[in-house]
Amino acid sequence: MGLINAKRNISSDIINSLFKKDNTEIEVIVFDEIDSTNNEAKRKISENCSLPLLILSNSQYAGRGRMDRSFYSPKDTGLYLSIILPQKPYENYNLLTIISAVSVTDAIMEETGINASIKWVNDIYYDSKKISGILTEAIPSNDGIIPIIGIGININTNSFPQEIKDIAGALGKNISRESLAVKICKNIFLNLSLNEKEPKKIIEHYKERCFTLGMEIDCYENGEIIFSGKAISINNDGSLNVQIHNDEIKTINSGEISIRNINI
Ligand code: BTN
Repeated sequence: MGLINAKRNISSDIINSLFKKDNTEIEVIVFDEIDSTNNEAKRKISENCSLPLLILSNSQYAGRGRMDRSFYSPKDTGLYLSIILPQKPYENYNLLTIISAVSVTDAIMEETGINASIKWVNDIYYDSKKISGILTEAIPSNDGIIPIIGIGININTNSFPQEIKDIAGALGKNISRESLAVKICKNIFLNLSLNEKEPKKIIEHYKERCFTLGMEIDCYENGEIIFSGKAISINNDGSLNVQIHNDEIKTINSGEISIRNINI
């Protein structure tokens, strides 16, 4: 795919034709501006939309991150999307956070050659800066859940609000947002089916991409450090084992960590 300036609206026609090339069945909706693609996903689910559905926006004025944070989503310089997957039992989606992170880093590599890495559990870093965040949410339904994977990637954003300017970065490349979005979706679909057959492969791949392993970290709950230690391993369910200084091992499933001495 040739270079396309990121500073133009995302084209649903281009996305549809890229999906059509390999018979991927998915509905696509593109907005110029929206509060949050994850909020729109929830509205669509309540209207019984057909699934899977990909929602993108050129900008968001109320982009959301984990821990009730906002996600800075200026016009045209980033990729802001939500993928709604079909309803399935919860177990089918148990590694969805891990699968999403791996799928995004792989798509970035395929599209740009950039080897981005994952800070447990699903923040994406390049050059010591956070370039992408993922917010997975799930709507309970009759026999399972309907997952929403919200993904934000800073592509060419070069100025950030004061409160994130020291940690946020961007890919810094002129790429096709359509092509990157399609690669992310395809990777998620491929990795979901791989996970049904060989779940260990996903975790192995995740470990290769996760730079948290081996680092001294602080673990937080409600904004407070609850313990510190060394991230020693990742379990098959994606949880992280942390060796506390008195040699006790604690396992965390979700929540927030920061890497000591690097401030990320
Ligand atoms: C995080 O950094 O904690 C997660 C950020 C997730 C941002 C994406 S942008 C598209 C989708 N819509 C949102 O409101 N949030 C996600």
